[in-house]
Amino acid sequence: MLLELRDAEGAVLELFEAGAHIDLHIAPGLIRQYSLVDVGRNDGAYMICVQREDGGRGGSIAVHDRVREGDTLTISSPRNTFPLRQPDGGVLLLSAGVGVTPLVSMAARLHRTGAAFEFHAYTRSPNALPLREHLESGAYRDRVFVHDSSRGDSFRTSAPRLLHQPVEGGAVYACGPEAFVALARERASDAGWGPEQFHSERFAPMAPPEPEGSAPFTVIAASTGQEMSVAPDESIADVLERHGYETYRSCGQGYCGSCVTRVISGIPDHRDDTQSPEEHARNSHINVCCSRSLSAVLELDV
Ligand code: FES
Repeated sequence: MLLELRDAEGAVLELFEAGAHIDLHIAPGLIRQYSLVDVGRNDGAYMICVQREDGGRGGSIAVHDRVREGDTLTISSPRNTFPLRQPDGGVLLLSAGVGVTPLVSMAARLHRTGAAFEFHAYTRSPNALPLREHLESGAYRDRVFVHDSSRGDSFRTSAPRLLHQPVEGGAVYACGPEAFVALARERASDAGWGPEQFHSERFAPMAPPEPEGSAPFTVIAASTGQEMSVAPDESIADVLERHGYETYRSCGQGYCGSCVTRVISGIPDHRDDTQSPEEHARNSHINVCCSRSLSAVLELDV
């Protein structure tokens, strides 16, 4: 299901970068993240693609069952936790299922800038591939390769040749279910792509942290100096919100990036999937919905 979103007052919606997403407020307490799809129209509207997931957490079913043309919905500003960095070498885009959506925007940008790229989209069946018509008729259609896993053309059995040919200055961007992204990362690493060359976004949270890693610690709010204890069974966001601090929590599971907060002092125990390994190493920001603390005290910019 492709949804076109326009400003209710007729204003032009703010520009977005390839890889960006919005929060869609579907119903009270039901917020989901959807990638913005650049289909080359540039008319001030947003396009998002919502694939019905009967085994999911209920967001896509609610969109399919409740949202009708002309409805007024609330969305957030675009946020980008999956930015496309302009490469010196070629780019390999790998998607599975609805993971195709952010990569369509990346392909459009790469095409506009004349960068070399290939886009490999894996699907259980071509008819089930979101945006298939757009991919097969668009300006960069000769760079698109649709793989039908029901006919044995799966990523597991036939990964693209380029994946096995790492290029200096090049990059791999992968998006899809966690198992697909994990396999792509493993194959890229085995082939010699550096960790800094592999970028990914997934649509499900990582496995929950081991309980023994969940020691209590103290959080200090820099704005007030208030000290708050975080117990092993609660998140930093739980504690901050209980004491009246805004956290901007959305997915609550470490994969949307809405709750990222600046760290003033202390060392976070990063458990999110939105910051890169380099960002984790800087320890300057923390996802307060899921991450914890390696130091006894963590002072945050709240
Ligand atoms: S709320 Fe989504 S990453 Fe924290």
